[in-house]
Amino acid sequence: MPQITLAPGGDHITLATDSGTHRFHAIWLRDNAPDAATRDPGNGQKRITLSDIHKDTCISHASLEGTKAQITFEPENKTVSYDTGWLTRHAYDRAPKQVSGWLDTAIKAWDASNGMIKRSTLATLQSDPAALRDWLAALRGHGFAITTDGPTESGAFEQVVALFGHVRETNYGRWFEVRTEVNPVNLAYTGLGLQGHTDNPYRDPTPTLQLLYCLENSVDGGLSILTDGFAIAQRLRDEDPQGFELLTKYCARFEYAGDAKTRLRTRHPMIELAPDGELRAIRFNNRSCAPITDVPFDDMQAYYAAYRRFGELVDAPDMQITFKLAPGECVVFDNTRLLHARTGFSSNGARWLQGCYADHDGARSTLAALSEALAEAAQ
Ligand code: FE2
Repeated sequence: MPQITLAPGGDHITLATDSGTHRFHAIWLRDNAPDAATRDPGNGQKRITLSDIHKDTCISHASLEGTKAQITFEPENKTVSYDTGWLTRHAYDRAPKQVSGWLDTAIKAWDASNGMIKRSTLATLQSDPAALRDWLAALRGHGFAITTDGPTESGAFEQVVALFGHVRETNYGRWFEVRTEVNPVNLAYTGLGLQGHTDNPYRDPTPTLQLLYCLENSVDGGLSILTDGFAIAQRLRDEDPQGFELLTKYCARFEYAGDAKTRLRTRHPMIELAPDGELRAIRFNNRSCAPITDVPFDDMQAYYAAYRRFGELVDAPDMQITFKLAPGECVVFDNTRLLHARTGFSSNGARWLQGCYADHDGARSTLAALSEALAEAAQ
């Protein structure tokens, strides 16, 4: 049987259910009251600001009626009904995470031994919401997923983006061509191999998703390589906690000046953490790394050692997944997590990819909306 207990003084309640025992503060409960005066029943948006709630808000009465918790707040003398399932799903009464570099349970860090490639045909994803949900869940969990059997005509990548979001335009345009050029403005447009990197760390904000759509790939070589930057960061943390901390604590600098009108410059850590230690983003791109000037003299030697070790792990075959994109295939990946690379290739045959950027918000929103709709339909 669920139980609710009011603390002396009324500053919090304790709710005990089958899902555990959780405390909730009076101010938190009042701010999250589901009544129509607090939160609009139509669009779900909050109608009040914190200053509309008395700063000494406390609880004078708390009781359970079935699955509803009835809470009375003072000095408003306002009684609000809460669903106990909603409360336990939003419980926050837990010890803070102690380990820096933790990940959400939806994210599965991988290396060569356990990396999985999620492939679905473009037509299936366009017609089957459950298949699209599963593909987007793989994109979220593993940081990448592949569409197959798409058209092999210029601009076909638009159909992949349309599955979940919108193209992010940059000074490269709506999309960029990745094929060998005689005088390349970027080394990506040559037959050279490229070290694993994240794209465009010199942008603020950095594009969070990247698509590479293959139109031709008949060269020898030209394999795609992906590495999980979160797995690398955690491995570095376990090997050398101090080196890991240096890459999270100090900003590197990135820049790109491809033409007279462009001077893109940023300052970001190579390993970005949320304030509570969650791994948020990796930025690693040797080609666009500017002189690092934000690391104090006394830490620079150790910083470079950690930077070097991170690069060794990027290059390590036991961290990598390798595959060859076929014409009509498109890899979509998290550009703030995965590092992408390619092997060098011959001048025989042709290799033509079209790439573009998109963002997490569209993909995550589509995943959440599809998951909700499919769960409701199943009930
Ligand atoms: Fe790239």
